[in-house]
Amino acid sequence: MGRDVIIACDFDSAEKTFAFLDKFTGRKPFVKIGMELYYAEGPSIVKEIKKRGHKIFLDLKLHDIPNTVKKSMAVLSRLDVDMTNLHAGGTIRMMEAAIEGLTREDGSRPMLIAVTQLTSTDQSAMENDLLIKAPIDEVVMHYAHNAKVAGLDGVVCSPLEAGKVHERCGKDFVTVTPGVRFTDGDVGDQKRVMTPAQAKEIGSDYIVVGRPITAAEDPVAAYERCVKEFCD
Ligand code: C5P
Repeated sequence: MGRDVIIACDFDSAEKTFAFLDKFTGRKPFVKIGMELYYAEGPSIVKEIKKRGHKIFLDLKLHDIPNTVKKSMAVLSRLDVDMTNLHAGGTIRMMEAAIEGLTREDGSRPMLIAVTQLTSTDQSAMENDLLIKAPIDEVVMHYAHNAKVAGLDGVVCSPLEAGKVHERCGKDFVTVTPGVRFTDGDVGDQKRVMTPAQAKEIGSDYIVVGRPITAAEDPVAAYERCVKEFCD
């Protein structure tokens, strides 16, 4: 499995998304469709982007009772996405049910990765709001391990955690890392950032890059720069 750059298409309409994707006349980037775009446009946006030849990471972060997650994953699998995700906090049983739902009759399925603790959750929110008293690093690694036990392919994590996840869960357990910025770029609201080259160095398998590409003056050049730094 090769490293790849995934562009976060955080747009609120199909129109804006296609205006953006139309700029890519050469190589078709791997794209992430998140809740904003999916809730705005529904499954048709997934089918349209797929038809244009892009790989798709459908980032809907499922978290519900195992039976509901299983049935919902079966529906997402029919959309022929390449990667999707859920919250590891839904328990190992929920993650196993997700795999069952996602697996097609011929045995194939999209990659399934888990969100451990959201990067917006800090130690104090975890202790006070969720009543989880363990250190956050330990919780993240424990959830990653649960995902592995359930048969998932990897986790979404900060690039700073990618090395540790590989140590705990093996080098084939995939790490998908947002929070990527160019050295000369705007950090925006991301707190812990890394350049594509650093993410490569630390062992991320996929980087998810949004605004450094979508808000760039020349998005194609920004994408190519990411690919060059991260994949070559
Ligand atoms: O624009 P930017 O590069 O910050 O976009 C990063 C993308 O990754 C966004 O779609 C964001 O929702 C997502 N993400 C993140 N941090 C996480 C999980 C997902 O930034 N912990």
